Amino acid sequence: MKGIVLAGGSGTRLYPTTGVINKHLLPVYNKPMIYYPLSVLMLMDIREIAIVVNPKDEGQFKALLGNGSTLGISIDYIHQPEPKGLADGLARAEEFADGDKVCLILGDNVFFGHGLPEKLREARKWIEEGGGGCVFGYFVNDPSRFGVIEFDRQGRVVSIEEKPQKPKSNCAAVGLYIYDERVFKFAKEVKPSQRGEMEITSVNEAYLKEGSLRVNLLGRGFAWFDAGTHDSFLEAGEFVATIEKKTGLMIGCIEEIAFNKGWISRQELIKLAQPLKKTHYGDYLLKIAGEEA
Ligand code: G1P
Repeated sequence: MKGIVLAGGSGTRLYPTTGVINKHLLPVYNKPMIYYPLSVLMLMDIREIAIVVNPKDEGQFKALLGNGSTLGISIDYIHQPEPKGLADGLARAEEFADGDKVCLILGDNVFFGHGLPEKLREARKWIEEGGGGCVFGYFVNDPSRFGVIEFDRQGRVVSIEEKPQKPKSNCAAVGLYIYDERVFKFAKEVKPSQRGEMEITSVNEAYLKEGSLRVNLLGRGFAWFDAGTHDSFLEAGEFVATIEKKTGLMIGCIEEIAFNKGWISRQELIKLAQPLKKTHYGDYLLKIAGEEA
């Protein structure tokens, strides 16, 4: 399975901040936003990753993450010249996927929760073995901002609607999806919505229509943020800060994950900490490596 991070949008909801800086490079507390979705893919044991970017921002992403080799992964960059929607960004990754199944994650989504990696790896296995598509639901107070999943009494999905004015439930579809190889066919068939975008919800509807859409609920033990508005951006940062200060453990630390998975050596981890010296982040990496900060 390959991983795709969508980071091609223009971040209009964070204007004027994102007028010249790409949203996904802004700090959510102490690290760039894109670290969080990358860390989720890495926790799912996905090591071949593509980031879909606007060509004008590619240089900045590359300066930050390179080709991924320092983390023991590979990162490709795919161009999405205009922010035409998530399904458009996904469709552009067809060649990269090369017939493989994919996990798609939005570059501004932050996840946290005990047992999350196991839950995601289990969902990965479902799609690898049984095909189809998988979305993840999370109950929220303000469903109109999101894709909304409606269930029947047996808990089966009845509908999935993008930003409905009258949501049929409080269950939001979070920005994380697992699909079989047919997803590119569905993505290319998507027609623009009323807001003029190729919606990922239309891709999910295609799976729902053929009866192969699964929903995995992220219950009360999980936290999920879409850091794409001023308020949710701040909330995500505050949440990360609170948990990290309390526990002394980082959320979304891609270097730590690479080390724990055995993808990089202790020496390589120490090397990654060098330029971060005298920061809490650098000290943290040295501590993980067993070095005194
Ligand atoms: C997108 C999707 C929506 C999903 C949300 C999660 O919305 O279209 O279905 O619930 O991400 O973050 P957008 O952020 O593009 O408004």
